[in-house]
Amino acid sequence: MPKLTICGGGNAAHVLMALAANAGWQVDVFTPVPGEAERLQAGLSGRNGLMAAVTRNGTITGQPRRISANPAAVIPGSAWVLLALPAFAHGPILQAIAGMLEPGCNVGALPARGGFDYQALSILEAAGKSATVFGLQTLPWACRIVTYGQSVEILGTKAVVDLAAFPPDQAPLLAEELAPLLGVELNPVSSFLTLTLANTGQLIHPGIMYGLCRGKEEATFTAENIPLFYQGVNGFTADVLQAMSNEVQTLAKTVGRSLPHFNVSEVRPLYRWLLESYPNDIVNPTSLHTAFVSNKAYRGLRIPARPAGPDTFTVDYSARYLAEDVPYGLVVLRGIAGLVGAATPAIDEVILWAQERLNRQYLVGAGLSGPDVSGTRAPQAYGIDTPAKLLALYRQQTAS
Ligand code: NAI
Repeated sequence: MPKLTICGGGNAAHVLMALAANAGWQVDVFTPVPGEAERLQAGLSGRNGLMAAVTRNGTITGQPRRISANPAAVIPGSAWVLLALPAFAHGPILQAIAGMLEPGCNVGALPARGGFDYQALSILEAAGKSATVFGLQTLPWACRIVTYGQSVEILGTKAVVDLAAFPPDQAPLLAEELAPLLGVELNPVSSFLTLTLANTGQLIHPGIMYGLCRGKEEATFTAENIPLFYQGVNGFTADVLQAMSNEVQTLAKTVGRSLPHFNVSEVRPLYRWLLESYPNDIVNPTSLHTAFVSNKAYRGLRIPARPAGPDTFTVDYSARYLAEDVPYGLVVLRGIAGLVGAATPAIDEVILWAQERLNRQYLVGAGLSGPDVSGTRAPQAYGIDTPAKLLALYRQQTAS
């Protein structure tokens, strides 16, 4: 069976360890976060080396082979490398492993978030390496670690997840090989542009944060009263999400007019994506609002919070719902929209609110010209700063 190295030690990495090893793959894990490899190893040792993924239909266990903080110990020989990490960790991980990748290996991120292709291909090129780069549109599971290094709960599994690749004609083959391991249907799409535009996390996470926290940014809660995240979506928040999704649809159509092989219909509206991703979990599919609050896979998940006093909590704006989904999501969208001249007033409103919480400057007035754009995956941060450059890139990256 192929050798796979999982990069990361969080929720998604825990699920992959159990599933991939259970499916018979040789599984190694690379995590450079100080102390994490040791914690993982200690947890696994307490369970005879087995990681358990607890699902509604039973528990899947698998035994990873090696856990290391040293990429040289696990990356060489890997046919597959999976980045199961928040997008802000993609860059440091790719920098650490690029020089050790086997020629022709498959390197992918789940999920890719926005602009993964710009970043991964530029790091590989600088290291003089060629690999097949791929990404998933979202993480196949809603999952949370139960006991570190030992067990993780899979709260829900999406019915189908899009996969894009570069070279683009590799997507069908990768989808076929990876689907049995992940236990979801993988749908090959024409281009990484699909993933960047159809990354629904970039709408859902900052959109709900904005809807729930705007005007009460400093509110405090007791542990029991920390607001529910998805079940807390109200009419206003659903309207914000709908407006953001509408803008993405317009953006996709605008770019699509200049890219004959780009399949605009792959960029699904948020409501349709939600219904198609969770066909068995959404109890009331009547509207975008009811689809969020009645989704069993989202049940009980709360807004990210940090201690504010002995018995109180406040919203944690440094959590990945903004720290990942704004610079590696909305700002990428906004960069593309700016290049092709598509208006994004609802997205701009959310970025302006979020950048204040993150203490960053991306949007200044009507332009994406803030000093922190260089730390994002907006195309402009990779020198793709004219419509001609953007379209030339995606003509090359889109399957014909
Ligand atoms: P997580 O927050 O559990 O991952 C944290 C892990 O990332 C750490 O344990 C560490 O191994 C790694 N990491 C963090 N910062 C790093 C750095 N600077 N350098 C190297 N490694 C670093 O994330 P989770 O839940 O596993 O999610 C992974 C991705 O899936 C994220 O993009 C998330 O937004 C997405 N996602 C997660 C869902 C879930 O239910 N967990 C659902 C949908 C999407």
